[in-house]
Amino acid sequence: LKFVCVSNDNNDEHMVWLIGLKNIFARQLPNMPKEYIVRLLMDRNHKSMMVVRRNLVVGGITYRPYSSQKFGEIAFCAITADEQVKGYGTRLMNYLKQHARDVDGLTHFLTYADNNAVGYFAKQGFTKEIYLEKERWHGYIKDYDGGILMECRIDPKLPYTD
Ligand code: ACO
Repeated sequence: LKFVCVSNDNNDEHMVWLIGLKNIFARQLPNMPKEYIVRLLMDRNHKSMMVVRRNLVVGGITYRPYSSQKFGEIAFCAITADEQVKGYGTRLMNYLKQHARDVDGLTHFLTYADNNAVGYFAKQGFTKEIYLEKERWHGYIKDYDGGILMECRIDPKLPYTD
């Protein structure tokens, strides 16, 4: 089992994983147009933290780091149907937080959570209260009707993974 962060970088193995993750998002996020999923997954401003087991993608989180603003926007998050509620979503988020802090230099995440995923994000430390100053994110992330804006502060020191 491994946690890897990849983007569209012409590496064949990364491309196979990104396509695997695209298929999970397409199935688990039925309200998202498939072309939109593919566009963001393959966009070089986005990165995807994935769980890979026996070279198969189990799930992942696609995000866009805004390095100058020190926050990241989570676009998509899903675990494949038969592996949900086994703890992968929690471990994935922990690897993402550690990578975002130590590699991207981010202090916060923002996401538009689907109604039914608010509970998951709340357990990962996300709140509906937005404490980040509006100047830091306004104009960077688009308003989106289909979800609830949630924020998570990344602890500057906590070891999130073992
Ligand atoms: N609502 C409430 N609580 C939840 C939900 C949910 N939808 N999903 C998981 N939880 C809880 C679990 O019960 C668990 O609680 P516990 O720690 O008290 O046991 C905790 O959250 C973490 O569970 P994990 O097993 O780590 O979560 P999982 O691996 O199932 O991943 C995820 C969670 C990503 C939401 C997964 O269930 C999934 O893919 N769902 C369908 C797609 C989806 O809704 N994605 C989010 C859309 S919003 C967006 O992408 C920005």
